[in-house]
Amino acid sequence: MTGYGSLYGGWRDDPLSYWGAQASRVDWTTPWTAVFDENAGPYGRWFPGGWLNTSHNCLDRHVDAGAGDRPALIWDSAMTGEVVTHTYRELRDRVAKVAGALAAVGVTRGDRVVIYMPMIPEAAIAMLACARLGAVHSVVFGGFAASELAARIDATRPQAIIAASCGLEPGRVVAYKPVLDDALEVAGHRPKACFVLQRPQSIAELAPGRDHDLLAAENAAAPHDPVPVAATDPLYILHTSGTTGRPKGIVRDNGGHAVALSASIPTIFGLREGDVYWAASDVGWVVGHSYIVYAPLLAGLTSVMYEGKPVGTPDAGAFWRVIDRHKVNVLFTAPTAIRAIRRQDPDLGLMARHDISSLQAVFLAGERCDPPTATWLQSRIDRPVIDNWWQTETGWPITARFRGVGLTPFKPGSGGRPSPGFDVAALDDSGALLPAGETGNLALRLPLPPGCAPTLWDDDEGYRASYLDDFPGWYRTGDAGYVDAEGDVWVLGRTDDIINVAGHRLSTGAMEEVLAAHPDVAECAVIGAEDPLKGEAPIGLVVLKAGVRRDPDVVQNELVEMVRNRIGAVASFRTAVVVDQLPKTRSGKILRRTLRDLANGGPVQVPPTIEDPGVVERLRLAFPTSDAQSVR
Ligand code: COA
Ligand code: AMP
Repeated sequence: MTGYGSLYGGWRDDPLSYWGAQASRVDWTTPWTAVFDENAGPYGRWFPGGWLNTSHNCLDRHVDAGAGDRPALIWDSAMTGEVVTHTYRELRDRVAKVAGALAAVGVTRGDRVVIYMPMIPEAAIAMLACARLGAVHSVVFGGFAASELAARIDATRPQAIIAASCGLEPGRVVAYKPVLDDALEVAGHRPKACFVLQRPQSIAELAPGRDHDLLAAENAAAPHDPVPVAATDPLYILHTSGTTGRPKGIVRDNGGHAVALSASIPTIFGLREGDVYWAASDVGWVVGHSYIVYAPLLAGLTSVMYEGKPVGTPDAGAFWRVIDRHKVNVLFTAPTAIRAIRRQDPDLGLMARHDISSLQAVFLAGERCDPPTATWLQSRIDRPVIDNWWQTETGWPITARFRGVGLTPFKPGSGGRPSPGFDVAALDDSGALLPAGETGNLALRLPLPPGCAPTLWDDDEGYRASYLDDFPGWYRTGDAGYVDAEGDVWVLGRTDDIINVAGHRLSTGAMEEVLAAHPDVAECAVIGAEDPLKGEAPIGLVVLKAGVRRDPDVVQNELVEMVRNRIGAVASFRTAVVVDQLPKTRSGKILRRTLRDLANGGPVQVPPTIEDPGVVERLRLAFPTSDAQSVR
């Protein structure tokens, strides 16, 4: 057996030897005593007894091996027109000094540090500086509003916060520092210090005693050496949407993460030291953590960090320009970005203006890739397009096509085959295995491989309840789909109330909490409707309290503004509709599936348990069918 079969078979036949061998890709200060301890944590822990430092493995190791002059991080900003390259040595030196600045305000191993920054090199430097000290970073995506930032500050209780004065979105400067100040007003927790990277586009006011200029602090600091940490110590917390309004604090450890990500570069991405890798994501998301910062640096690649959009900064040729300029070998992006480019440049005329001969493959993840987009891209660029399925929780692809060992077949719409470490199955609602081709709950057999979340922050019980209790022996992904006869996995959508808007994972429950807080709203539902660009877009339906006589348009506008202010622009919540009644079961449960069907304009499933079948017809008329009916 060769290729994928032997790679996957090698793991399946002897998982512990497989991971033990992969662990040699990483420098350990103290070797682990066991590959896996099944008795620790909610389902076990990887590499107990081992000690290492992730920043050493990302930086110092390569400098010590003579690669100090190799570009480590190339920052290309379509927003400012700048390109800044840090070699491995330069990046190590800056990281060591920022670590020194954090240490100077008392940050030590195990302390948390919140990072609220746009796509600038200092975001990666801040993350790696935390890793150097054994401090636990918690990056908050820039598109979130102050209350979301405050919730994450209270959940992680950071010793310090590292922010930028602003982010740059097309046509506007997004001032981050006032958002941070607002969040700190709301949050119960007080950090000891805030460091602010002053960008020239908006200079922030610094609060004396609390706020420090990041660059000045970096310059004044003594470089800090990497601090060895236990393999099982947390490297970071990343909050992601759950089914309720409260986000989940996904924990990543140091040892398993370094091993899994190091192994993923040669096997899944087919790259080796010195290759140029570009993940066009954001450091605020898991793809940004894993594939802008950690994996490329662990593997000695050159990572491109891009501040800009696929379209409009200035045009739909932006991706090809970056690939040409930096000789990118592999691009990783979200299907939404490709749909946006296709919409504006359907014949890829802008691509023809650039030399993209360095490009070997495009990886797509973050949301389901519709087959026409995958097929269009592969035929137009004449390179493999590799859909890969994963989640914040797993930290690296559950399924892919494995460039390193010979690609598995291109099946548009499928996420590919399981990575070594993942045993994927579709289960029925009682937990029984479904035969090939039958759709059910996609689940991963325990234990999860290294690199996956071992637990939730401060909440082992919550982890068990969210992922492990429904199907004993399995991790419930929350995705629906099936495994075909050849072993390819097809992910069809979520089984819960999470929606995926432009590759951003959002909770409809969180949006419902905001709508329900409006004084005129009696009840509400938020659903994800199909959207040709963003995959899904949220629509809010509200029933007003009896006796409220206000203009529905005014209420609708207020609701849109409330979601923007409380969750953030990233929610893309643009449509709220006032309706007379919501469809419900006789026991009072809102029929969200029926609402989704209505929004998508297709056949509507009306369950026999519906309280009042007439409500569906009345709602059909109220539903937004054109932009004219949407609020923004
Ligand atoms: N900081 C502040 N605001 C942000 C932000 C950030 N980091 N990221 C997005 N926003 C804002 C946007 O400016 C926009 O605001 P607006 O409502 O005032 O226009 C809003 O959040 C929605 O953003 P987005 O969903 O990204 O839509 P867009 O219209 O700005 O761009 C695309 C559309 C397709 C270009 C964009 O969604 C895209 O590049 N998607 C790919 C996503 C991706 O790579 N995801 C990573 C998963 S791997
Ligand atoms: P996130 O945690 O933000 O990475 O979002 C994870 C969710 O995005 C998954 O549970 C899926 O619903 C969806 N997703 C990610 N990648 C894919 C993919 N390749 N195909 C289908 N859905 C995907």
